[in-house]
Amino acid sequence: MGYANIILSLTCKRARAAFLLAPFILLPVSLLAADAQDTVTTICATCHGADGNSTDPVNPKLAGMGQEYLLRQLNAFASGKRRDEIMSAIIASIDSNDFPKLAAYYGPKQPSPGKVQNQQLAAKGRPLYEDGNTDSGVPACAGCHQSDGRGNARFPRLAGQHQAYTVKQLNDYKSGRRATDPLMTTVGKRLTADEIKAVAEYIAGL
Ligand code: HEC
Ligand code: HEC
Repeated sequence: MGYANIILSLTCKRARAAFLLAPFILLPVSLLAADAQDTVTTICATCHGADGNSTDPVNPKLAGMGQEYLLRQLNAFASGKRRDEIMSAIIASIDSNDFPKLAAYYGPKQPSPGKVQNQQLAAKGRPLYEDGNTDSGVPACAGCHQSDGRGNARFPRLAGQHQAYTVKQLNDYKSGRRATDPLMTTVGKRLTADEIKAVAEYIAGL
């Protein structure tokens, strides 16, 4: 074999090896994880807990949320309709074929109760949650999310969610950073900063 041929065969081998390895480098999770459990254990559980009840208040609890809702949110992070430095980057590394499995894993888990830290603030949030604010045109949250906040197939569960997470979502709807739902964008835009804090505190205690 001449020198040129050796070089050629080496580059071809290298190119083939790179080709074969590329999907594993780009999509380690989707190709190597046997099922959602592996992905949950190695990635999601760090922030959301293996049982879907996160302890850090910036990470939402996923336990008890509708699977369809969870799936919609994973797709929204993937498409950019919903943006977050952390979640958007994580979702970009996961095969979208795994999204339904992840939603089906977390949705049926038992949600843990939340904790009210400021009773006075929660008491202020209650009338807004139950009746809305007719002056500014905020509809009653309970009308869709239900009085006990457990939600249903269309409207996500809010009950027991961490205050910090709820506050961030309402601000993200308000600013348009989260554009997953025109209705909640309108609700967010009509809420004041004080109302957001109060209603988030009330929701934590549901
Ligand atoms: C490093 C921490 C971290 C990891 C790891 C992580 N998440 Fe998240 N997740 C977050 C944060 C923070 C948010 C809130 C994002 C926002 O504010 O929009 C979030 C939001 C979500 C939501 C939206 C919940 C809702 O109520 O709308 C879903 C669904 C979700 N994550 C699923 C997953 C899954 C599945 C994995 C594993 C593949 C995962 N996350 C890994 C931090 C994390
Ligand atoms: C007309 C129905 C409706 C009303 C009224 C409504 N919501 Fe929503 N809400 C929704 C829907 C639908 C979603 C899911 C939107 C999406 O996919 O982003 C949602 C999502 C949310 C979320 C995000 C949950 C999560 O896990 O990320 C929060 C927080 C929320 N609503 C709080 C409120 C509050 C507080 C009020 C009252 C001030 C309210 N909503 C009124 C329908 C409603």
